[in-house]
Amino acid sequence: MSTVLTGITTTGSPHLGNYVGAIKPAIQRSKDSGMKSYFFLADHHALIKCWEPERIAQSTKEIAATWLALGLDTDQAYFYRQSDIPEIPELTWLLTCMTAKGLMNRSHAYKAQVDENSKTGEDDPDKGVTMGLFSYPVLMSADILMFNASEVPVGKDQTQHLEMARDIGARFNHHFGEHFVMPKTIVDDNVAVLPGLDGRKMSKSYNNTIPLWLPEKKLRKHIMKIKTNSLEPGEPKDPNDSFVFDIFKAFANEQQINEMKSEFVNGIAWGTAKQQLFEMINTELQVAREKYEELMNNPDIIEAELQKGAARAREYATPFLAKLKAAVGIRSIS
Ligand code: TRP
Repeated sequence: MSTVLTGITTTGSPHLGNYVGAIKPAIQRSKDSGMKSYFFLADHHALIKCWEPERIAQSTKEIAATWLALGLDTDQAYFYRQSDIPEIPELTWLLTCMTAKGLMNRSHAYKAQVDENSKTGEDDPDKGVTMGLFSYPVLMSADILMFNASEVPVGKDQTQHLEMARDIGARFNHHFGEHFVMPKTIVDDNVAVLPGLDGRKMSKSYNNTIPLWLPEKKLRKHIMKIKTNSLEPGEPKDPNDSFVFDIFKAFANEQQINEMKSEFVNGIAWGTAKQQLFEMINTELQVAREKYEELMNNPDIIEAELQKGAARAREYATPFLAKLKAAVGIRSIS
């Protein structure tokens, strides 16, 4: 049985790119009965780059409500908040003591900050680097190794962290016995990377996102803002060179894609193409949007789901951590 695990850092509001690239395929795969799935809200990771309490709390609520509204089966998948599993920070320490500092020196997230400092002529290369940022890959390793995940679906930018998780896990195994499974990185090229309003990858750091749960009118307004060229209605348009078409493809079935292709060739007006895109996305999200609103208005339901998920996840984490502690020599004296 494969164990799939992935986390989402709770610093922002879910957008269409998260939905298409991560959440939708994850929920889809979790329905496979040969699969054990762990999905969690990485709120300890959020603290690394965000010191805004309200933002973290709100983001946690929104992301949790999103997975639930989209139909995640929380009796099958394990759905929890990282900070509800005290075994994770405890394991983080055991792993920290096994992690070479030199390995962390090579971490992209840390190096990016050092590069930034050198570019801006800072004297201190470590300006703005907290220990949280520096050892972030150890926390991520603990998330993964805690549940012996065999597969970890992530974006390309996270592949180095997975290598580090294997490195750290292997070192622990070497010294203290075979406790951890080596996690495989899953970067799925078939899953769409959605362009944002300006055509670059949709990402909150580019400020080009379409939020997932906009009310209908606002969703339409956002879609109308997607960048196009200035070809007039009636002029043929190239579907392979259009962000509108790229986004359309991520939601449409094959027949709808082919129909839209010929409409492009026939010179569909940009306004009309965008209207059709809006209708397609709106139809797909309509029912879930109502559920989302209902959950956001009933936070007790969300909280109860997370508590249930934490209790289920700890059924595995508590005895496993006890075993790991015993292995390193932290055990009862008698
Ligand atoms: N660092 C990941 C990101 O920024 C989120 C994350 C935290 C994660 N822990 C994880 C992803 C464990 C996969 C597995 O996207």
